Amino acid sequence: MGEPFIPMGEADRAYFLSEMRQMLASIQGVMTGIGTKDRALIYKSAKYSGNRMSRATPDSVRRILPQEFKELGGPTHLMFEELAVRSETDDMATLAEFTGQLMQQCLACHARFRVK
Ligand code: HEC
Repeated sequence: MGEPFIPMGEADRAYFLSEMRQMLASIQGVMTGIGTKDRALIYKSAKYSGNRMSRATPDSVRRILPQEFKELGGPTHLMFEELAVRSETDDMATLAEFTGQLMQQCLACHARFRVK
């Protein structure tokens, strides 16, 4: 295992952490949507942290992220995309289970990396 600390400038770090808080907001919207059976809310919340977010990552941030980080981060955004697609068809219990699986990615990466 390599170094857990990813060195970032102030601006990149602020951007990076705000995207993280947005992913937490996505999870909040997804869980509320599951609880209230609001498919549109699940879709919209999941979409926000999907491919749009990975595309929006500035090159200055992308450049410094280690390969291992990208291998956890890329699939996380893809799972948000999959969640959005599945929100249109799957039952709520299945969506909750999948959201739990998605959140394993959050846990795995948080156990591995810090920014400074
Ligand atoms: C590929 C790695 C990775 C993934 C996946 C990931 N995170 Fe993070 N996250 C980080 C790192 C690194 C930090 C900074 C931790 C530190 O330095 O203390 C962080 C910080 C955060 C923070 C704190 C933000 C702040 O303002 O300090 C929140 C909230 C967060 N993540 C939510 C999530 C959620 C929710 C998910 C899953 C949907 C997720 N993260 C997935 C790497 C990741």
